[in-house]
Amino acid sequence: MRAIYPGSFDPVTLGHLDIIERAAKTFDELVIGILNNNSKSPLFSVQERVNMLEEVTSYIPNVKIVCFSGLLVDFAAKLEAGIIVRGLRAVSDFEYEFQMSQTNRIMNKEIDTVFYNTSLEYAYVSSSMVKEVAMHGGDISGFVPALVVERVYDKYRKDLSEK
Ligand code: PNS
Repeated sequence: MRAIYPGSFDPVTLGHLDIIERAAKTFDELVIGILNNNSKSPLFSVQERVNMLEEVTSYIPNVKIVCFSGLLVDFAAKLEAGIIVRGLRAVSDFEYEFQMSQTNRIMNKEIDTVFYNTSLEYAYVSSSMVKEVAMHGGDISGFVPALVVERVYDKYRKDLSEK
């Protein structure tokens, strides 16, 4: 069975990677769907996010990276993916995830959402926190894959030099 793991991945964190590794074991094929979300003014372009995800998942053979815009259920249907994968970190994630999965199910009842509990060591990692820590020069090496660390710092160094 093919599953899709959608998200902004701005940038990919160790929490995301944990979910990717585990979901890739459960499903025959895992498609990582990166939302092309200009309205969220992301730190990384969609191509930069595709590249980072391809590099950090290169050791997992059944993972494929694609980007999408529009509705997730339409994209999942086009890919013939019957499962949407999402990670749940804390209770605070639940309300948003519950609303999203219910809405998606009403729009397409053939597509189900499966939740993975984030491993405890990553329960508090989020892309937005990583960006905030990096912006202030903090150490993000415990939160994102090694090759992502420098790319995040580069963005803020570039920002500073442009000011
Ligand atoms: O990593 P994120 O930003 O929490 O992921 C959110 C994502 C991409 C899963 C969600 O915003 C999404 O599916 N967007 C596509 C538009 C859509 O289908 N919206 C209706 C879902 S309720």
